[in-house]
Amino acid sequence: MGVLAPSILSADFSRLGEQVQLISNAGAGLVHIDVMDGHFVPNISFGAPVMKSLNGWNTSPYDVHLMIENPDQYIGDFVTEKTEYIVVHQEACRHLHRTIQNIKSHGVKAGVSLNPATPVSSLECILGELDLVLVMSVNPGFGGQKFIPQTLEKIKELDALRKEKGYTYQIEIDGGVSLDNVKLIRDAGCDIFVAGSAVFGAEDIAQRVKDFNALIG
Ligand code: DX5
Ligand code: ZN
Repeated sequence: MGVLAPSILSADFSRLGEQVQLISNAGAGLVHIDVMDGHFVPNISFGAPVMKSLNGWNTSPYDVHLMIENPDQYIGDFVTEKTEYIVVHQEACRHLHRTIQNIKSHGVKAGVSLNPATPVSSLECILGELDLVLVMSVNPGFGGQKFIPQTLEKIKELDALRKEKGYTYQIEIDGGVSLDNVKLIRDAGCDIFVAGSAVFGAEDIAQRVKDFNALIG
């Protein structure tokens, strides 16, 4: 059963609470929180206070994607009763094993994200520790970019590896996911599907969530 994680980066920030409640009630299993610092990626989005302002709304759990330098300094800020995953970038962590342990010490599931140019093999020594691997299918920083098809090979590789070695991580894809390519991605072995513009850019957002779920369910 696939899980849809709409990215609030493409939501209407002036009505964020309403919009996360809408997608959650429509069947989005996770709410994807894209945090950008203007250093690791060439864009700034929002931080923990904005995420926490959603806690009073009826929302699905948070999947926090930290596109920031020095994530260790901020991990505690993103821990709330609604935080299911905290995902850091392999490229941003000098001591990745320590960072993973830091996330887990808060009782939150730990994930690592790979940029399009970063190979799966860079996680070889740590895959057994992970609850999630996020495969970026665009270069991080912006919503609405085009899906990079070679990233499908990484999904297949991660799926084969977990079967072979008995690992339990979830596989997540992020960037350029649409109704047109989501089945292909699912068939490659993906479990969690981030979609920003394809959800929040729809005329009927709730219906779009249901359409995605019908394809990944
Ligand atoms: C990109 C973000 C994505 C982005 C996805 O840096 O990590 O989560 O919001 O947006 P779409 O689905 O529009 O490519
Ligand atoms: Zn993201």
